[in-house]
Amino acid sequence: MNNITRYSDLQRKLHWIIVLLVACQYILQSPMRSAMSNLQHNVTLSGLDFLVTTVHTWGGAAIGAIMVYRLWLRWQNPVPVGAGELKGVWRVIAQSTHWAFYGLLFFMVATGSLHYYFEWRSAAYWHEKGEWLLLGLILVHGLAALLHHFYKKDAVLSQMWGSRPPH
Ligand code: HEM
Ligand code: HEM
Repeated sequence: MNNITRYSDLQRKLHWIIVLLVACQYILQSPMRSAMSNLQHNVTLSGLDFLVTTVHTWGGAAIGAIMVYRLWLRWQNPVPVGAGELKGVWRVIAQSTHWAFYGLLFFMVATGSLHYYFEWRSAAYWHEKGEWLLLGLILVHGLAALLHHFYKKDAVLSQMWGSRPPH
C-alpha cells in the first residue's frame, strides 16, 4: 500500500458526476413511471415521455460505464479508505459500503435494461427494490461523510472533496 491519502482529481470528479447522474435518475422517477405506463398501454409517447426515457436509459448507461472506469481507477491507484484514519470495524463498514455501491449500481443498470429492452416484468420489481436500497446506502454514506467532516473534523471528506490535500 502506498502513502497516498487522497483520491486523484479524476476520481473525485467522477465521484461527484455519479452523484449528479444518480440524483437525476431519482428526480425523473415519476415522469419515467408515467412514460413506461404509456408505452405499456400503447399510448403514443409525448415529446416529454421520449425525452425522459432517453435521459433515464442513457443516464443509466453512463452511470454503468463510469462505474466500470472507476473500478479500474481504484484498482490502479489504491487509496486507503477513510484517508487511513478509519480503523477496525469502521474501515470494514466504509469499505463494504463502497463495494455495495458498485454492486448495486450495476444491478440497477442490469434490471433497468432487462425491463426496458427485454420487457422482463420481474426485473421492474427488482429495479424498484434496488431503488430503495440505493437510497438507504446514499443516506448512510453521505451522513457518515458529513459526520466525519463536521463532528470528528478529520480528513475523510476532503479525501473526496475540494482541491486542498487533507494534511
Ligand atoms: C449517489 C451517491 C453516491 C455514490 C454512488 C457514492 C459512491 C462512492 C464510492 C463508490 C466511493 C469509494 C471511492 C471509489 O471507489 O472511487 C465513495 C467515497 C466517498 N464518498 Fe461517496 N457516493 C455518493 C454520495 C456521496 C455523498 C452525498 C457524499 C458526501 C456528503 C460522499 C462522500 C464520499 C467520501 C468523503 C468518500 C471517501 C471515503 C473514503 O474513501 O474514505 N459520497 N463514494
Ligand atoms: C444506476 C442506474 C439507475 C438508477 C439509479 C435508476 C433508478 C430508477 C428509479 C428511481 C426509477 C423510478 C421508478 C420505479 O420505482 O421503478 C426507475 C424506473 C425505471 N428505470 Fe431506472 N435506474 C437506473 C438505470 C436504468 C437503466 C440503465 C434502464 C434501462 C436501460 C432503466 C429503466 C427503467 C425503467 C424502464 C423504469 C420504469 C419502471 C416502471 O415501469 O415503473 N433504469 N429507475
